[in-house]
Amino acid sequence: MALAALLAGVLIPLGLNPFSQRVAAATPPLPSSAQLIDQRSFNVLDKVLPPSEANATTLFIWPGVTEESLKAKPFHVYDDEFYEVIGSNPTLTLLAQSDKDPLFHEAVVWYPPTDEVFFVQNAGAADAGTGLNKSAIIQKISLAQAQAAKNETNAVGKVDVITVASNPQVVNPNGATYYKGNVVFAGEGQGDSITSALYLMNPQEPYNTTVLVNNYFGRQFSSLNDIAIHPRTKDIYFTDTLYGFLQDFRPAPGLRNQVYRLDEATGALTVVADGFTLPNGLTFSPEGNYAYVTDTGANHGLRGWNYSDPASLYRFDVKEDGTWENRKTFAYVPSGVPDGVHCDDKGNVYAGCGDGVHVWNPSGKLIGKIYLGATSANFQFTGNSMVICAETELYYATFAATGPPIF
Ligand SMILES: *[C@@H]1O[C@H](CO)[C@@H](O)[C@H](O)[C@H]1NC(C)=O
Ligand SMILES: *[C@@H]1O[C@H](CO)[C@@H](O)[C@H](O)[C@H]1NC(C)=O
Ligand SMILES: *[C@@H]1O[C@H](CO)[C@@H](O)[C@H](O)[C@H]1NC(C)=O
Ligand SMILES: *[C@@H]1O[C@H](CO)[C@@H](O)[C@H](O)[C@H]1NC(C)=O
Ligand SMILES: *[C@@H]1O[C@H](CO)[C@@H](O)[C@H](O)[C@H]1NC(C)=O
Repeated sequence: MALAALLAGVLIPLGLNPFSQRVAAATPPLPSSAQLIDQRSFNVLDKVLPPSEANATTLFIWPGVTEESLKAKPFHVYDDEFYEVIGSNPTLTLLAQSDKDPLFHEAVVWYPPTDEVFFVQNAGAADAGTGLNKSAIIQKISLAQAQAAKNETNAVGKVDVITVASNPQVVNPNGATYYKGNVVFAGEGQGDSITSALYLMNPQEPYNTTVLVNNYFGRQFSSLNDIAIHPRTKDIYFTDTLYGFLQDFRPAPGLRNQVYRLDEATGALTVVADGFTLPNGLTFSPEGNYAYVTDTGANHGLRGWNYSDPASLYRFDVKEDGTWENRKTFAYVPSGVPDGVHCDDKGNVYAGCGDGVHVWNPSGKLIGKIYLGATSANFQFTGNSMVICAETELYYATFAATGPPIF
């Protein structure tokens, strides 16, 4: 209801005013958890620091704001279009926290039958103690518990975080998505002998798994990273990239960094795109007409950063036959790298970046952020809410926008 009123406030004057759409749009009231960001307030700075001091790994704090003020009202409105995303009462709740162990990394998957959300530890991060000798773990929470805590900013301890023992184990899981009643994980592999593979996992006990594909014509993948299901064909698209190697738990690559497509019915495995530095997250627009791929090339894992490499989102047209064309640079992020990427049901594009989740409209205009002041590698819509991983922190956000249907 609140949203309907909000929309009417924005849209009806637009329709009636014959002179100017921009002037007519009545700005809705700013929710108490939101703040306006006027880019003109920092387009000219007295002092612009060199890359050794201001770079992709640093938070941008401009005159008039502090890190605390940016976090205090975490819904940052860069453009009026963001009001429709956040609605009248967006909330952000810290659900769980760890000291140093990056337990809340990626593979955020909502499983509606049990209303649970799965996620995984950061395989290969120094503080995880995983990688070559030990696999990252899978964990889950109950969405009902998160929902019950939504009016609190800090609900640590109120939500149970439960470890899931996949069997046979998904080794070094990274990305994942819901797929036909199961979760499909990209396992990065371990050392020379446990190759990288796509695993299907039953999301209920005994969490049994089946390997879907573990090679390309007899050659090992480098380390599979993330997965998306095409909404029309239900084909499985996934990225292969170098993080297992760059985090010292996989051999030097034997294949190009690229995006694959698996037709589960025929078993056909093909390549749909290459030309990336480190292809990472991927998703489709709600109708499946566009594919988005993030390139986290600037982040070389344990080898550090190269700021002239991509921190970019690319968009492709998806043709009727499922192949891709017309690569376009959709966005370049100033903070960290864009990692996990998802669309809402209106086609707005969300990506996990160095300071939280950034949101662009379908033409690539930054319209807002869910600001964490920390890196989010991935997140997932859970209806008109979202579970957000931020390495040592797990968040729950509620707002007006809704995720697209899952298959
Ligand atoms: C990036 O900026 C941070 C913070 O100022 C600094 O510690 C780091 O050394 C910089 N990185 C490089 C490669 O210069
Ligand atoms: C893995 O185990 C081997 C043999 O025990 C050891 O030499 C190596 O340091 C371990 N590597 C990591 C990353 O823990
Ligand atoms: C959260 O607060 C709103 C009013 O601000 C209230 O309507 C709602 O019931 C509360 N939800 C929970 C789960 O406490
Ligand atoms: C799990 O086991 C059940 C019972 O054998 C089987 O029907 C199902 O396909 C398995 N699921 C996966 C993902 O392996
Ligand atoms: C960064 O990447 C560019 C382009 O690939 C390369 O030319 C350059 O040598 C790299 N710099 C470092 C420090 O790795």
